[in-house]
Amino acid sequence: METKTMKPFPDNFLWGSSTAAFQCEGAAHEDGKGNSVMDVRVQDPSICNYEVAADHYHHYKEDIALMKECGLKAYRFSIAWTRIFPEGNGEVNQRGVDFYNNVINECIASGITPIITLYHFEYPQGLVEQYGGWLDRRSIEDYVNYCTFCFKTYGDRVKYWLTVNEQDHVNHMPFRIGFKSTSVLEDEKKGYLANHNMCVAAAYAIKACHEIVEGGKIGPAVCFDMHYPTSNKPEDGLAWLDSMDLRNYYVLDMNVKGKYNPVFKRYLEDRDMMPEIHEGDMEAMKTNKPDFIGFNYYASKSISAFPADEEHPIGDLKIKLLPAEEPGAYKIVKNNNLTATLWGWEIDNIGLECVSRILYDRYELPLLITECGFGNKETPDENGYVEDDDRIDYLSKHILSVKKAMNVGVEFIGFCSWSFMDIVSGHSGFSKRYGFVRVNREEHDLKDLARSKKKSFYWYKETIACNGENIK
Ligand code: BG6
Repeated sequence: METKTMKPFPDNFLWGSSTAAFQCEGAAHEDGKGNSVMDVRVQDPSICNYEVAADHYHHYKEDIALMKECGLKAYRFSIAWTRIFPEGNGEVNQRGVDFYNNVINECIASGITPIITLYHFEYPQGLVEQYGGWLDRRSIEDYVNYCTFCFKTYGDRVKYWLTVNEQDHVNHMPFRIGFKSTSVLEDEKKGYLANHNMCVAAAYAIKACHEIVEGGKIGPAVCFDMHYPTSNKPEDGLAWLDSMDLRNYYVLDMNVKGKYNPVFKRYLEDRDMMPEIHEGDMEAMKTNKPDFIGFNYYASKSISAFPADEEHPIGDLKIKLLPAEEPGAYKIVKNNNLTATLWGWEIDNIGLECVSRILYDRYELPLLITECGFGNKETPDENGYVEDDDRIDYLSKHILSVKKAMNVGVEFIGFCSWSFMDIVSGHSGFSKRYGFVRVNREEHDLKDLARSKKKSFYWYKETIACNGENIK
């Protein structure tokens, strides 16, 4: 809806930026850190691993000084669980504990609100080896113990917490849960068992946060792409409803409403993938609701009907990274109305406005954008300067969509871009860059890891300084 006037961003809006430990810290085997599933992941050799990353572990002071110079109000980062508990449970590693104390203190001294993700893909390999990790109920207790330790140790200074990053992406990627893929159906079945245990664990972590952290606020950080029906054919509309239930709503419905939405439940039962629900599980979710919804937004998807037939029977899943199509449910097709990044992610800021309104309507909780950003290949000039106008364009349009959603009543806590400095991309190594700050390294050549400010750094600084007045 258009309005005659536009509401400004509130004064306390958290202008932020994000990273994740395994993608930025490096020091993968330093100071007692244990292995996570990301460390042992078998990588495509053309892409770098996480050993050094952006070396934030050794550059954190410099990086936070740059955040301060940029005027960031918030820095969202994750704790590497295995720096604190190298095996995932048992002995605490004090050097890991100290590192995050230092990062938090540095943020606070710089006037930056820390927002901590407790679990961003880096599941402890030790727990996988002890009992199969998320596939076992013991995972719930270990996660809650780890979170409780973090709340007790850092909760005097950290008031914003995120339980699980992109749970849907964990569920569908066996390597992120720590098991070897067998058949897609078996993998999916295990993924939904892990999903259930994660939701129960998150509920008890929310409880612990509320009990331990004075004034603490906690929520999930889901991935929530906008989905559209490809056409006005009723079949596409129905497929769109299915994709929203099966890909977008199911985690949040468990987190916020404490229930399996009916379509998701029927889907799991019909495909023989329904996990066992133990007494008290759903009650724990229902009574321990998040305080806000954190979500990552990058792109939208166009959804078409995909009726099952002899050639494509129900259950014939062909998953590469995520279920992109499923006979009898939906498929994702190219949206010819949008342009895309070099990696085919369709750029759609209006989708962010739609998602914001959908989430706020359905869950009635304030929203925090935990990631939003533009990945690109970049060539700097001789001073390390990058003219990343595409990134500025992407971010300013997406922030405008936040402003428009806010203008019609959606409540936001803040906006965290992905990412503050260049870090290792989740799937594409160091050649896919997202930062306001360039890190001088290439895929396999570490160079000097020097930091330099890109054009977008100055643009974001100006945006924060005028509290988004320049976003029109
Ligand atoms: C999200 C993740 O999926 O998207 C991040 O939370 C990830 O860890 C980001 O880096 C962008 O994805 P990619 O593959 O471009 O790095």
